[in-house]
Amino acid sequence: MSQSVNLTHQAVEILRKNDMGGYTVPTLGLYPFQWNWDAGITALGWLSIDENRAWVELEKLFEGQWENGMVPHVIFHQESDDYFPGPEQWGVNRALPTTSISQPPLLATVMKILYEEGKDRQLAQNKLELLFPKLLAYHRWWYKERDLHSTGLVSSFHPWESGMDNSAAWDEALARVPQTEQAYERRDLNHVDSDQRPLKEQYDRYIYLVNFFKENAFDYELIFNHCPYHTQDISLNAILQRGTIDLVALNQKLSQPYDLPDLEVEIERTRQAIASLWHEEKGLFLNRDQHSGQAIDFATTAGMLPLYGRSVSAEQASKMAIVIAEWLEAGKYGLASVHPASEKFDAKRYWRGPSWLHINWMIADGLHFYGHDELAERLRIRSREIIETAGYWEYFDPITGEGCGGPDFSWTAAIALYWFL
Ligand code: DGY
Repeated sequence: MSQSVNLTHQAVEILRKNDMGGYTVPTLGLYPFQWNWDAGITALGWLSIDENRAWVELEKLFEGQWENGMVPHVIFHQESDDYFPGPEQWGVNRALPTTSISQPPLLATVMKILYEEGKDRQLAQNKLELLFPKLLAYHRWWYKERDLHSTGLVSSFHPWESGMDNSAAWDEALARVPQTEQAYERRDLNHVDSDQRPLKEQYDRYIYLVNFFKENAFDYELIFNHCPYHTQDISLNAILQRGTIDLVALNQKLSQPYDLPDLEVEIERTRQAIASLWHEEKGLFLNRDQHSGQAIDFATTAGMLPLYGRSVSAEQASKMAIVIAEWLEAGKYGLASVHPASEKFDAKRYWRGPSWLHINWMIADGLHFYGHDELAERLRIRSREIIETAGYWEYFDPITGEGCGGPDFSWTAAIALYWFL
């Protein structure tokens, strides 16, 4: 069997193994439920195997949508002792339990890809008509409840909302959150080495925030005004911006398009607000800490995602391409989430150094869009080499290429299927 065929076969097997009947767990054991941004990437993988199954992944996720439009970051479709914090800790009283926060909204962009690339046109049209109103409600929720003062940037109230949980960019903002006094047992460490996961001190603060949301009865104004952790995440905002652009385009494919002048306003406002987070010397965008009111002076791959968000000037894109090219050379199995020369770089610890395939894909997509095709292609080839070296792990040591975190990981297999297999 050729290597390519073999890699494809393995990736398909991983999705089938992690398929719980309509939704795909990220990996067995460590993450036994459906995660929001994982579901988006995983649907791209299903696209080449079974188009209907790709749409069903999104339908299952929307089953957990709240009445206010929020699509939670985890949908607890089944019970499991493998994970903490589970439904009791979150305290969300719904027939289908969920968490009370969201995650980077990749869904509109994924839906546009499924719609445009699906061969079964009737299926694509039917699914789009079915899911579009839910998607629209989700985007409107972000602007209404997470940008109370119409700044053009939505807020995050938990590092888990960024999907980049223990990113070094959050260190100061998270340090303001008290450590919970509640006794609890971490389950993630039953599955993965502790040197590849967040620290206990960070977990204590994560759990404090989970309790804070519950104690405030999930009231969005109370949380917006009083949450001890309050950031504007450049990656989440760039992904939302791209999603809203794609949502407006998808609207035109509906049998009866909506009037969406509010979203046109949001797109323009966000474009300007993202521009305010540009850092000329670093050649990248930064996050903002809402408590200090300052940009967070620490660069990570998150700051490259405005390329994917279609929110940079041609001149900025050229500067970013130079930065990304150098960053990519700093680790043979890059793109490292934190630059290997940084004193905070930690090669195996989750979002403090490892490379992540779906982030590479988004950055390569952005580079393509701005005409940096050669660099985008280099990133694609490097990403493939990671898989050839290590297989389908959750994330990778960018220096040695070693697979880290959970094995047989859905979004790694899915993005490989979609992007280069
Ligand atoms: C975890 O449990 O590690 C997740 O990243 C939270 O979403």
